[in-house]
Amino acid sequence: MITMYELIEKKKHGAELTEEEINWFVAGYVSGSIPDYQASAWLMAVCFSSLSDRETADLTMAMARSGEMQTPNIDGFCADKHSTGGVGDKTTLIAAPIAAACGIYVPKMSGRGLGHTGGTIDKLESIPGFNTALPYEKFISIVKKAGFAVAGQTGSLVPADKKLYALRNATATVDSIPLICSSIMSKKLATGAKGIVLDVKTGDGAFMKTLADSERLANAMVRVGQLAGKKCTAVITDMNKPLGRTVGNSLEVIEAIEALKGNAPADLAEVSLTLAAQMLSLAEKGSDEECMAMAEDAVFSGKALERLREMIALQGGNPNVIDDYSLFGSAERSKEIFAPSDGVISEISCERVGIVSLKLGAGRTTKDAEIDPSAGIVFDKTVGDKVKKGERIAVLYTSSRSNLEELAEEFASVVKIESGISEKRNFSGKNVIKIIKGY
Ligand code: URA
Repeated sequence: MITMYELIEKKKHGAELTEEEINWFVAGYVSGSIPDYQASAWLMAVCFSSLSDRETADLTMAMARSGEMQTPNIDGFCADKHSTGGVGDKTTLIAAPIAAACGIYVPKMSGRGLGHTGGTIDKLESIPGFNTALPYEKFISIVKKAGFAVAGQTGSLVPADKKLYALRNATATVDSIPLICSSIMSKKLATGAKGIVLDVKTGDGAFMKTLADSERLANAMVRVGQLAGKKCTAVITDMNKPLGRTVGNSLEVIEAIEALKGNAPADLAEVSLTLAAQMLSLAEKGSDEECMAMAEDAVFSGKALERLREMIALQGGNPNVIDDYSLFGSAERSKEIFAPSDGVISEISCERVGIVSLKLGAGRTTKDAEIDPSAGIVFDKTVGDKVKKGERIAVLYTSSRSNLEELAEEFASVVKIESGISEKRNFSGKNVIKIIKGY
């Protein structure tokens, strides 16, 4: 007979659990026979002792099988993408329509904002009428027509992750490589895509702060994907500054639409096009260079934008937002932020930007808090830009009762301006740092 006491004891001493023990733990925790306090103790032991590759794969499979395993009834290559969580990360809204315009299908289950990071579902819900709670049949019928659809995860998909994630969030056990790997990959395996592109963020705004840890996480996820018979690519991307120029829900949707009109800032274009190209590469559409050229052409021909318009309409949203941004509604109050001195912006603390944006109303400070869709931050300047004293560097937006003066002060301290360094010095290196292919 297996007991939870023994499993905690084993992991505390770094011993390896058997597949049977891991399956027993997942089934028992989902059914409620294992209480939160014992599951928490085990999770904390995992944070200190880690899991072997085999244990990580077994945990991922047990979690994936804890609910419905979907097999999309689509005649064509289905690819999925997942980010480990970032600030200003609107790449799904750009990469998915690009991949769809190039002939592959992207049935995308997305999440809501988590901590200081944003979520695609919250972003899309800033479009008037947009519905992310789709019955599975309807979701797939939209994927067949538009090439992609984005829905929230239903309760029947990976219930083990739903329960474990909430527990990890409350017990400081989120930033463990095998736990993040099993959380993300269980959801990806349960949705049945043939190919998976993983955007593994690295840096101050990411859960993995160092490149070495990000590589470990990327390799772990690719290995688990391979073991489950999926084609998997991990793209390690920079999260030492917000991605693009906006943070906040409708602000990010507008930036994504602009990107599909060919007007993306360089960092956002580089990451989004790379993710789309890697999805095409999984579908064997050509070499990496050919896939990149196809992705660029989907933007410049306007075909990707048309996919987004179609998908918005099919999911009940007002597609006219693409041509008229006033339909999003605007924030009631705004506050301009000016440079306090001459110099070059050497740092924008990504995590703290995420927290200011959350306090402006773009994220949740409590589990059930309402989102303010137009709240957030628009940057006029970013890392590497030269600024003059008194020049505007950003604007904060809110409609909530948040104290704008206080938040403006908090925001000013997250942007570091240095004198005596040259403009456009490459502060954070490339935005796409490494590509790891597991096929
Ligand atoms: N995203 C997830 O879905 N799970 C994690 O554990 C971390 C980021």
